Amino acid sequence: MAVTSIIKGTGSYLPEKVLTNADLEKMVDTTDEWIVQRSGIKERCIAAENETTGMMAIEAAKSAMDAAGFSASDIDGVIVATTTPDRTFPSVAAKVQGELNIPHGLAFDIQAVCTGFVYALATADNFIKMGQAKRILVIGAEKMSSIVDWKDRTTCVLFADGAGAVILEAAENDKGLEGQGIHSTHLYANGSRRELLQTSGGASTTGDAGVIEMQGRDVFKYAVTYMADVVEETLKHNNISSDAIDWLVPHQANIRIIESTAKKLDMPMDKVVVTVDRHGNTSAASIPLALDEAVRDGRIKRGEMLLIEAMGGGLTWGAALVRF
Ligand code: ACO
Repeated sequence: MAVTSIIKGTGSYLPEKVLTNADLEKMVDTTDEWIVQRSGIKERCIAAENETTGMMAIEAAKSAMDAAGFSASDIDGVIVATTTPDRTFPSVAAKVQGELNIPHGLAFDIQAVCTGFVYALATADNFIKMGQAKRILVIGAEKMSSIVDWKDRTTCVLFADGAGAVILEAAENDKGLEGQGIHSTHLYANGSRRELLQTSGGASTTGDAGVIEMQGRDVFKYAVTYMADVVEETLKHNNISSDAIDWLVPHQANIRIIESTAKKLDMPMDKVVVTVDRHGNTSAASIPLALDEAVRDGRIKRGEMLLIEAMGGGLTWGAALVRF
C-alpha cells in the first residue's frame, strides 16, 4: 500500500501590531489607493522589535500540535521555511525543537523565500514517503519587516510578519486521489533571474542580512507565467481538471497574481483563500497562515482537495496537490 503524508493539524501566529496603509502614508510617499489597486493589501501585521521569527514559529507550532492532538514526543522532525532566521546559525528549526522539548528527530531550515513553504512541504513529504520520519512539523515563519528598507516605498508597503504550521503524519492510502494526503509536489527554480528579487547583503558578503531589492514589474510577469505553468502541470500530472479542486491556497504576494492564476484555472474567487488584504506578503508564512485561517473558520473541510502554489525569490516556484 502506498505511503502518503496527511495534514493532521494546522496552526498559525500573527503579531499584535497592525500597520495600515494610512500608517504607511505617514512614512513614505504612497497612498492607500495605490497600495490597494496594485497589490490588494489594506493592512499587515508587524512583529515587535524583540519578537523573532523563532518565537512566531514556536507559537504556530504549538497551535498546530494542539489541533493535531500531538505532544512533543510524537514529533520526529522539524522543518522551518524562512528567509529571516533569528541567527545565521543554528537554524530556527533547532530552536523550535529545543524550546518545545521535542526529544528526537531531524531539524533544519529551508530557504526558498516565498516558495519556502512549498519546498518544505515537499521535503517533509519525501522524508515521510522514504520512511525516514513519521510526523514532521512543517513551519513557514518570517519577520520580513527586519529586511525591509522602510524608506523604499516600492517594497515596504508589501511585506509583513507571521508564522504558520502544519503537522504531516505518515499514513497508508489505498484510494488513490480519493484518499487523504499529499498527492504530488512540483518544485522549480530559475537561478539566472535571481537579481530580480534579492537582499542587498548577506553573511559572506556584507556581513549583515541586507534589505530587500525587487524589480517588481519583472517579478510580476514571471510570477503570472510560472504560476500558470505549475498549476497546469500539477493538474496534468494527476490527470484531473480544475473542477476537482475545492480550494486554491496560493502564496499571498499580490491579489492580481492570485486572480490571474484563478482565472487560468477557471476557478471563481470564492474557491480561493485570500488573506493578502489583511496579512500582506509574509513570504514563506503566507500559505500556512491562509490554510490555517480557512481550516479554523470552517471553509476548508476534511476530504477536500487543495491546490497550493507559490513563487518567490530565486526565482523559485512550486505547487502541491493535497487532499486535506
Ligand atoms: N506608492 C505610490 N507609488 C509607487 C509606490 C508606492 N508604494 N511604489 C512604486 N510606485 C510608483 C513607481 O515609482 C512607478 O512610478 P513611475 O511610473 O513614475 O515610474 C509606478 O508607481 C508604477 O510602478 P510599478 O513598479 O510599475 O508598479 P506595478 O504595477 O508593477 O506594481 C508591485 C508594483 C505591486 C510591486 C507589483 O509589480 C508586484 O506585485 N510585483 C510582484 C511582487 C511579487 O510577487 N514578489 C514575489 C514574491 S516576494 C518574495 O519572494 C520575497
